[in-house]
Amino acid sequence: MKFEDVALGIDIEDISRFKGKTPEKDKDFLTRIYTDDELEYSFKSSKPEGRLCARFCAKEAVVKALSEFNISDVYYSDIEISNKEDGSPQISVEKYPNIKFKVSLSHCKSYATASVIAYRTGN
Ligand SMILES: CC(C)(COP(=O)(O)OP(=O)(O)OC[C@H]1O[C@@H](n2cnc3c(N)ncnc32)[C@H](O)[C@@H]1OP(=O)(O)O)[C@@H](O)C(=O)NCCC(=O)NCCS
Repeated sequence: MKFEDVALGIDIEDISRFKGKTPEKDKDFLTRIYTDDELEYSFKSSKPEGRLCARFCAKEAVVKALSEFNISDVYYSDIEISNKEDGSPQISVEKYPNIKFKVSLSHCKSYATASVIAYRTGN
């Protein structure tokens, strides 16, 4: 593994930005940022704003990490955050299958945050 093939990104956001959003009222905003599965997962919660905000942070953190590889053509909806069976999050970006990600999310009452490590492989 080469040092220049590893990149890091982080973001923190105020959860209040996402409070009161609904799939009906905010369809354009939500579908510009999130995939259908992310919206389904987030709105399963009684407090979807925390999950929406954490996923927004993860997407921003991915964009930051990818900029270290001089990649600037990945948009929010290209970045898919899903949860494994144990609840832990994972990221995939279909456009760049050769880049693998590690992600960690956290949300409390007011803020959500995400840290992302990107690893560029040879294939
Ligand atoms: C997983 C755990 C560390 C989350 O910590 P927390 O302080 O409650 O909540 P945080 O806001 O910091 O983190 C929440 C995020 O952790 C992530 N997460 C959940 N399970 C995880 C796991 N096993 N490993 C890593 N991350 C995990 C998720 O992304 C979650 O956010 P999301 O629901 O929006 O996807 C905590 O619940 C824990 O220690 N659980 C012990 C194991 C457990 O109880 N498992 C339940 C299955 S029976």
